[in-house]
Amino acid sequence: MMRDDLDRILITKEQIAERVKEIAAEIKRDFHDEDLTMICILRGSCYFFADLTKALDNAVTLEFMAVSSYGSGTTSSGEVKISKDVSTPIEGKNVIVVEDIIDTGYTLSYLKRILLQRKPKCLKICTLLDKPSRREAEIEGDYVGFEIPNEFVVGYGLDYAQKYRNLPEVGVLKPEVYKK
Ligand code: IMP
Ligand code: MG
Repeated sequence: MMRDDLDRILITKEQIAERVKEIAAEIKRDFHDEDLTMICILRGSCYFFADLTKALDNAVTLEFMAVSSYGSGTTSSGEVKISKDVSTPIEGKNVIVVEDIIDTGYTLSYLKRILLQRKPKCLKICTLLDKPSRREAEIEGDYVGFEIPNEFVVGYGLDYAQKYRNLPEVGVLKPEVYKK
């Protein structure tokens, strides 16, 4: 059982659902009825992206990108690679990048730089989780779900070695699981 590998639940599905509604309201307050292009950063933000886009009544174009900065370990390599890009140009669009977590910040600071070169009308960063104590690159989220302590978390899209993504809540992984 996946849950047996958790030290504890950090964020319940009810808390996530509540916060998703609040973030949708923040986005609505900033963009009113404008069209949006929202980019899901695969695979970690898949559930957050699905829930958040459904909570908005704007016309939303769904885009997907895959980037990697990690192997199967729990520390950043600082190296970022785009393995799947968006399928339509973002020039002149209201773009919101939806990420699972900002940790060192390397992934998003790199991605932001690349996307800004494509001249969107505006570019916002939305992240479910933020570990500010771990930041090395200069980047912050415009919309942040939860600030969390420096612990390795899984669930609601987040993985350890591709496992635990489909847990409906966010939990702290027992350190012995990744020290094995
Ligand atoms: P950054 O480039 O260090 O900000 O790393 C961002 C990426 O690292 C995220 O998109 C996650 O895939 C991964 N990551 C960072 N911290 C965690 C964690 O606690 N659990 C699972 N994945 C994490
Ligand atoms: Mg990831």
